[in-house]
Amino acid sequence: MKTIAHLSDLHFGRTDAKVVTALLADLHRHKPDLVIISGDLTQRARSHQFAEARVFLSRLPAPVLVVPGNHDLSPLYRPLARLFQPRAKFHLNLPGHDPMPVWQDDHLVAVGLDSTRSLRWKSGALKSAHLEHLEQTLAHTPHGAARLVFLHHPPSTAKSGHPYEVLVDHGIDLVLTGHVHNAHVELISGIHGHSLVLVQASTACSTRLREDANGYCLIRLDAGHMEVGVQGWGGESFHPVRHHWFEKRAGIWRVAPHPSSLMHY
Ligand SMILES: [Fe+2]
Ligand SMILES: [Fe+2]
Repeated sequence: MKTIAHLSDLHFGRTDAKVVTALLADLHRHKPDLVIISGDLTQRARSHQFAEARVFLSRLPAPVLVVPGNHDLSPLYRPLARLFQPRAKFHLNLPGHDPMPVWQDDHLVAVGLDSTRSLRWKSGALKSAHLEHLEQTLAHTPHGAARLVFLHHPPSTAKSGHPYEVLVDHGIDLVLTGHVHNAHVELISGIHGHSLVLVQASTACSTRLREDANGYCLIRLDAGHMEVGVQGWGGESFHPVRHHWFEKRAGIWRVAPHPSSLMHY
C-alpha cells in the first residue's frame, strides 16, 4: 500500500511562513512514498517565487511530481510571453520537472497532465493530446497497479475539451486536482458503470484562502482500497480533519463506511 501526499496551490509569493514550516514538519512526520503537487506553485510566475518553490521541493521527504497551474504561466500583463512562451519560467526554474510527469512502479502509475491554457486561465482544458499521452503510458502499466492522474483544474471548472469523466473510462482510479482552494472528495461515475475517486485539495500554504483553511491530503491506496485523509491547518499545526474510505468491488469503486481490515495502522 502506497502513501501519497497531495498538495496544491502553494502560491509562493503569497505564503504564510509559519504554515510552510508546519507543512514540511507534518509531511516529514507522515513519511509519504510520493508527493504530488497539482499546480499553482507560484503567485505570478516570477523567478524569485519559483526559487522559493524550488527550496520547498528540495526539503520534501519523498520524490515529488508537479504540474503547472494557471498562476505558473506568464502573466496577462506580459502578453507576448503569455502567448508565445507561457511555460518558459516553469521550465527555466524547475529543471528536471517535466510538465507531464509520469511515475511508475509495480503498484502505482501516476500521470500528470498539464491542463493550463494561455487563453483559458480559469477553466483549463483536457485535450485529445492528453488522452493520447495517457493511453500510451497506460499501455505499459503493470497489471493490478493503481492508476492515478493529476492535473490543476478540477472537473467543475472545465468548459472545453473532453469531460473529465472520460478519465473514468480510461480505467483511472484516482484524480487529484486543485485550483479552487477548497478540499473536496467525491466518487465520480462514468457512463459504462465504472467509477473513480476525485480528490481536490485546498491551498496548502498560501494566504489566498477562499472557503477553506490551508490543507493537504494524505492518500493510502492499493489496487482495491483507498483512504483519503484531509489534513487541515489549526493555527499551530496540521491535524486530521476527516477521512473517506473507498473499496473497489467487481472493478467499481464504492464508498466504504469504515476502513478496510486490509488497511493496517
Ligand atoms: Fe491557486
Ligand atoms: Fe489555479
